[in-house]
Amino acid sequence: MSTLLEIIRHEIHKSGVLPFARFMELALYCPDSGYYETKKDIGRRGDFYTSVSAGELFGQFLACQFAEWLEPLRSAKCGVRIVEAGAHDGKLAADILNWLQLKRPKLFGQIEYGIVEPSARRQEWQHETLKDFAPRVRWSSDIQAMVGRDSVEPKFHGIIFSNELLDAFPVHRFGWDAKNKTWFEWGVAVAGDKFIWAKIPTPHSAFCTPQLEAVLPDGYTIETSPAAENWWREAAGVLARGKLLAIDYGLTDDEMFSPARTRGTLRAYFRHHATDDLLANPGDQDLTAHVNFSAIQKAGEDAGLKTEFFGSQTKFLVEILAQAEKNNSLGEWNASRARQFQTLTHPEHLGRAFRVLVQTR
Ligand SMILES: C[S@@+](CC[C@H](N)C(=O)[O-])C[C@H]1O[C@@H](n2cnc3c(N)ncnc32)[C@H](O)[C@@H]1O
Repeated sequence: MSTLLEIIRHEIHKSGVLPFARFMELALYCPDSGYYETKKDIGRRGDFYTSVSAGELFGQFLACQFAEWLEPLRSAKCGVRIVEAGAHDGKLAADILNWLQLKRPKLFGQIEYGIVEPSARRQEWQHETLKDFAPRVRWSSDIQAMVGRDSVEPKFHGIIFSNELLDAFPVHRFGWDAKNKTWFEWGVAVAGDKFIWAKIPTPHSAFCTPQLEAVLPDGYTIETSPAAENWWREAAGVLARGKLLAIDYGLTDDEMFSPARTRGTLRAYFRHHATDDLLANPGDQDLTAHVNFSAIQKAGEDAGLKTEFFGSQTKFLVEILAQAEKNNSLGEWNASRARQFQTLTHPEHLGRAFRVLVQTR
């Protein structure tokens, strides 16, 4: 039996039933055997498509936008910085830095590119991808460490961003018991050599209004991600001036509670196929749930940030394109770039499902 299976079984043995969030955390991040610790190739060559794996155009668009955003911050005494979290193999960072070096050499010379990365193994992958940019890149294991642990006031000037980070945080999974009018949490237990679902009674009851609860079908499922909200809150807390940006697939509160979405949004991905067998093959399949953008937006606003943009990836990229066309900063178009743009913006590809939240201070 693999170490990961042994660890999960051991934790279930200790607690009786393991909350799904802990199962997901181990399946994705267990040192040495979690999915994101061992699968360097995600995207086109991995189990699911990402905007980064479509090609370098996505990074070029972001770089183009970042350059505009950083311009007014350039004179700040603290210098300007871009911080990426969830950089995985560093490919997106390389695309962004390449473009800045080529198109905005002066700005490139002033920028520090920070990568927030808790995993030593993924830092190694990123070091390898970014070796040509070594003097410009700095790593730290969490966002507080990036700005200095003893700072009381927010002091980061620049841009903190992530692409498909929030959907990779562990989620709690809750079900509605229509007969008893209560919510319960889904946990994981063991039966023979398999993991099975088990209910955990929960005091939680405030996922939606009583009026909505009255019409929810039995077994209606939702997920919450306190880990994603905490991450956003912490990032908002260190931002003194600049932007906090997330690109991810997700929904608003209202959309989460659509009567058509009775089984939640949690999915497993294995070799480009979505599977509903979430407990199978821990460590070998990706587990991911839609981001609740209403909750993330609120976490930022509660921390004093202003929401500047929330919309589809299509709208976000088209606005960047319109701006870039004016000053010709994206350069010449060819067939490959046009194909990439279509993949990134077509509603049936990545354009509609992916959304962008920009908050500012
Ligand atoms: C879906 S992948 C991101 C893919 C990448 N950003 C891209 O665009 O191709 C999610 C990444 O977030 C990382 N991650 C998870 N929790 C993190 C955290 N607290 N801080 C930084 N990265 C984290 C995962 O290990 C994984 O590499």
